[in-house]
Amino acid sequence: MMSSGLRFTLVSLLALGGISSFSWASPLKVDIDARADSWPYGPLVTSGRDMKNARGDNVVYAGTNWPGHGEVMIPDGLQYQSIESIVSKIKSVGMNAIRLTYAIQMIDEIYSNNGKDTTVKDSFTKALGQTNGPKVYSQFLAKNPSFNDSTTRLQVFDAVAAECAKQKVFVHLDNHMSKAAWCCSTNDGNSWFGDRDFNVENWTRGLSYMANHGKDWPALTSMSLRNELRKPDSNPTLSGQSYNWRDWYTNIKKGTSAINSANPDLLIFLSGLDFDTYVTPVVQGTAFTPGSAKFSTADFEGYANKLVLEIHNYQNSANNCNNLKNSLYNSGFQALHADDSKAVNVFPVLLTEFGFDMTGNAWRGTYATCIAEYLAEQKAGWFIWVISGSYYIRSGRQDFEETWGLLKHDWSDWRSPAYVEGGLKPLVKATAQG
Ligand SMILES: *[C@@H]1O[C@H](CO)[C@@H](O)[C@H](O)[C@H]1NC(C)=O
Ligand SMILES: *[C@@H]1O[C@H](CO)[C@@H](O)[C@H](O)[C@H]1NC(C)=O
Repeated sequence: MMSSGLRFTLVSLLALGGISSFSWASPLKVDIDARADSWPYGPLVTSGRDMKNARGDNVVYAGTNWPGHGEVMIPDGLQYQSIESIVSKIKSVGMNAIRLTYAIQMIDEIYSNNGKDTTVKDSFTKALGQTNGPKVYSQFLAKNPSFNDSTTRLQVFDAVAAECAKQKVFVHLDNHMSKAAWCCSTNDGNSWFGDRDFNVENWTRGLSYMANHGKDWPALTSMSLRNELRKPDSNPTLSGQSYNWRDWYTNIKKGTSAINSANPDLLIFLSGLDFDTYVTPVVQGTAFTPGSAKFSTADFEGYANKLVLEIHNYQNSANNCNNLKNSLYNSGFQALHADDSKAVNVFPVLLTEFGFDMTGNAWRGTYATCIAEYLAEQKAGWFIWVISGSYYIRSGRQDFEETWGLLKHDWSDWRSPAYVEGGLKPLVKATAQG
């Protein structure tokens, strides 16, 4: 893909008298215009606190997480519903984005297998066993009849991305785990750079692979580096020597470079420590301790306008909204405020995970209403955890019921229509459409 600098030069050249009549010029120009003139009007860039499309409009993601990082390594729910019906459901309430998660293990296996991905058929059997694997796979085929025995895991991701493009839903691709499994704990071997399953070279290779692969997904506008970095409690040596902001900065520079060199069009989301609950040193420009380096745009030469911050919040027992708002501000949203002298580095900031039990009245409680109020005030982007009515498998249990899921167990309809009408739709309206 062309860099925006090159595109500018070509357009300028074409504007010179006469040159547009050359036969090579027309198809080139059409190609360039086609990208900027149709949804998603990419590539997206950042401008201060905002994400902007190529037309200069603000882009605010208002969406939901859709897990694909579990042991089957394809997006969940497809044994119950078609990709089209799930994307339609998301779209029907105005949500405009999905945070689609994947595991680095999928790419590692492609490399081990001479570039060939595993079939979905084999993946179901491997993850769910000889009895349940084929059974769930046949349900998957019945609901998604365009797939077949040679369909690979990545082709399912491709189909999700294609449906999102068709329905104009942004895809934000998130590396959730290295080893495919439910996330996250501090002793799951996937917590920090260099942890048992978290090999840094495999990780950057996987980021590059997906960034490059995603060039064929028109809906793909951004990628994250890594979900919920956390203390590696099962590895005290690593924890003592490396779990700090200095090593964070070293590694995130490798990750951003891997994505940007493979696909310079993508926004790249940076996540912080302690399960991505804060990114304050980046915002306030303080030293990445125990080192002395500070965040510098010079370390991201040529793509400093592609960086976005993301945090998560699960302070579900909050009983004071002002405290929760202050916490969100101090953890990261301060970066939206150029007028705050402590916000040394201004970025777009998104709440890429928050959520609550959908089976009761939690949506009327302090946490849920306060988060919604805050996102509306800040006009900030967000992804609620989670669309899943259930998972193929989670923590060893198959067909796991997700009571926090927006959808019911069989992904057919909303779990809490009251929340969707009274909470979710107004939140979409107040942020993405506000
Ligand atoms: C099987 O599905 C894949 C995509 O999932 C498709 O590319 C391929 O053409 C299909 N093969 C047949 C024989 O239908
Ligand atoms: C890294 O990928 C290779 C395959 O290329 C795999 O054999 C190895 O187990 C992976 N490392 C980790 C820590 O997962």
